[in-house]
Amino acid sequence: MQIMKYAFQQHGDERGHLIALEEFNDIPFRIKRVYYLYDTKEGVHRGFHAHKSLKQILICIHGSCKVLLDNGKEKKIVPLEKPYEGLYIPHNMWREMYDFSPDAVLVVLASEVYNEEDYIRNYDDFLTFIAKHEAN
Ligand code: TYD
Repeated sequence: MQIMKYAFQQHGDERGHLIALEEFNDIPFRIKRVYYLYDTKEGVHRGFHAHKSLKQILICIHGSCKVLLDNGKEKKIVPLEKPYEGLYIPHNMWREMYDFSPDAVLVVLASEVYNEEDYIRNYDDFLTFIAKHEAN
């Protein structure tokens, strides 16, 4: 499984850093939704779903967390620890987010507005979905 981690261009000088993200230029899709997780309690695991078509970029703009990616065949753990790192998560990818530091702010850029129909929240359904998808 190939992990698509972006290192965004930092505009830095003696005043500090600034990162600008433009759809299609820095982010490989039109950004239709932005949401963020913060104040995540110790030991909490979130996510536990895949998407049928949604694509996302995850950026831990403050603090750190880990993301488990699972394509049904292989699992990879990706730490997010820098505000200039973006993790691309394609559709058909199971994800879990955990090990949030108390100060973690995880920003998610999404290619679609919220749609519960696009979620696969059961792991066995996910395996069935990708098996069917591969067969076609
Ligand atoms: P949830 O799917 O449990 O988040 P995660 O998968 O990261 O653990 O979402 C928590 C709540 O927020 C749930 O009631 C749905 C709602 N929600 C929205 O209304 N819009 C959104 O864009 C997202 C991601 C969640």
